[in-house]
Amino acid sequence: MVTARAPATSANLGSGFDTFGVALERPADTVSVERASETSIEVTGAGAQYIPEDPQGNTVGAVAEALDAPAHISIDKGVRPASGLGSSAASAAAAAVALNELYDRGRSREELVSIAAKGEAVVSGTAHADNVAPSLLGGFTIVRGEEVTRIDADVPLVACLPEVAVSTRDAREVVPDSLSMADHVETVGNAASLTAGMCRSDPSLVGAGMDDPVVTPARAELITGYDAVRDAALDAGATGVTVSGAGPSLLAVCHLEKRRGVAGAMVEAFSDAGVGSRAYQTGVGSGASLL
Ligand code: HSE
Repeated sequence: MVTARAPATSANLGSGFDTFGVALERPADTVSVERASETSIEVTGAGAQYIPEDPQGNTVGAVAEALDAPAHISIDKGVRPASGLGSSAASAAAAAVALNELYDRGRSREELVSIAAKGEAVVSGTAHADNVAPSLLGGFTIVRGEEVTRIDADVPLVACLPEVAVSTRDAREVVPDSLSMADHVETVGNAASLTAGMCRSDPSLVGAGMDDPVVTPARAELITGYDAVRDAALDAGATGVTVSGAGPSLLAVCHLEKRRGVAGAMVEAFSDAGVGSRAYQTGVGSGASLL
């Protein structure tokens, strides 16, 4: 049996829609694989009841098929589905690493990114790599077509997960079809600043660069309490707050000494809005690993 762990991730970071992603130190999925004549899947852990065990409908089934690696696959979910924290990508990334080892396929991490992205298509309809890339490679990643650029970064983060679900499909439907030149200019400036901030591990620059005038305001409407939670995090010292992936989680960046206060303020603001939540005090993590 081979077991791999792959971390939760946060895609977009505001200004980098379908482009930026970051690996989180926690939470993570753990996937164990054993050789079998055909693929079967068993799911336990956070939100397991919502995840199909049919290989045709599960992200890891597509990964096993792409690697020609039939197996009994046990997924222990640390990352709840429909959380905005790259739940399906974490399973796909861990399965890709474990199956690559089990069958000695010799695929590079970069090759596994495109294989795991095929698994993403099963759950969201598009083979986007902005969650699987950081889950496999770690750090901050920039996806540009088939290319992935990875940057080592060290910034404190808070991922606050409310007890509501937003499906990626629904959240993609509210994304505007076009944007004005003024919004384009603002977005490019923010995205470039955020990238520079990651290169410098500078929470202030990363936070400022998270602002997004296009996608985030549309998606915020789907998240009860978004404005209050964002304001509470900023008041507690966050340097930037945005929707994590397709939501409903929010991602905040801050200086280390503010992280505990930011996490508490976000949970309290969600509670005031009538929504239970939990906050992960985390940071930029490493990629998937064999256990
Ligand atoms: N970039 C994707 C989106 C990530 O925001 O829809 C969600 O899986």
